[in-house]
Amino acid sequence: MRDIYYNQDCIRGAREHLPDKSVDLIITDPPFAINGNSLHKHYHRREDNVFEGYVEINQEEYRDFSDKWLYEAHRVLKDTGSMYVVSGWSNLLDILLALEKNKFELINHIIWKYNFGVSTRHKFVTSHYHILYCKKAGTKKVKFNTFCRYGATERNDDNSSRLYKDLEDVWVINRDFKKGRLKNKNTLPAELLKKMILYSSDEGDLICDFFLGNFSTAKIAKSLNRYSTGFEINKDVYDYQIKQMHNIKRGYLLKEIYSNEGNPHINQRKRWTEEESIKVIERYNSIKSSGLTDKKTYQILSMEFGRGYFSMMNIIKKHRKS
Ligand SMILES: C[S@@+](CC[C@H](N)C(=O)[O-])C[C@H]1O[C@@H](n2cnc3c(N)ncnc32)[C@H](O)[C@@H]1O
Repeated sequence: MRDIYYNQDCIRGAREHLPDKSVDLIITDPPFAINGNSLHKHYHRREDNVFEGYVEINQEEYRDFSDKWLYEAHRVLKDTGSMYVVSGWSNLLDILLALEKNKFELINHIIWKYNFGVSTRHKFVTSHYHILYCKKAGTKKVKFNTFCRYGATERNDDNSSRLYKDLEDVWVINRDFKKGRLKNKNTLPAELLKKMILYSSDEGDLICDFFLGNFSTAKIAKSLNRYSTGFEINKDVYDYQIKQMHNIKRGYLLKEIYSNEGNPHINQRKRWTEEESIKVIERYNSIKSSGLTDKKTYQILSMEFGRGYFSMMNIIKKHRKS
């Protein structure tokens, strides 16, 4: 299953290839039942570089179709896993009902605001998608890496918290512009996928996309050293994208993440101050009192204070000796 992709209907394919509770995270963007062949109008762009054969679902069948693939999604997801489903608003109700029927519970209803809406004169411009972030109903705790992008102390120029902003449920993320590149009708931006993958999985985890399209989820997963699997029914897109997967270097985006502004070790080379040491010790005591292991505590401290794991361990050891 790891990095194996199937040119197949996802419902049948999941039954054949994916064991129960085998997947850590599902990220998927099903067809919206709005006639894929007119998607270019929706996205306001030229069609010269877009694959033919985008497979749509009839609106009358959409609820039943959603019900069936979500049944499989629930079966293959681990109890600690979560799922992000991207949906337009036209048939959102079908997805919400199918989620409920298949015992998924919403954690957040995220609005993704994008920048490629079509201008209109007689109504408002549609410029958002819904992202339904959910877990299996009844499960207690799913994987969520709170400090994967920003530490608790990182600030924006206006002194607001970067972490808080990143955790809000309205995401403003622009579409990737890939001039002249062959693509499917609909492609999720890398920035959006990075965010979902970093918050909800760890390196080495298995991510499943039931509707691979351009293989965007699979490409970003590999770039962040995760594994992936999934299905795409359109043979032309599948044949083209499966070859593109070989060009992605495993883990290459991790370097970028650890060296940009969101670098969790942003304070690594700065001198320790007395005040900071005291704060670390206080925070260590407070985290430990909630019952977490030393390892997990050092990881959290490292993210919050923007310093390395061993640096945290040393400061605590030093404090214990003194
Ligand atoms: C909205 S697109 C996915 C786009 C993808 N997230 C990306 O970023 O490129 C939906 C894809 O699902 C495919 N599809 C439609 N019905 C399917 C099915 N029953 N099983 C698998 N794939 C299907 C379509 O051909 C289309 O490529």
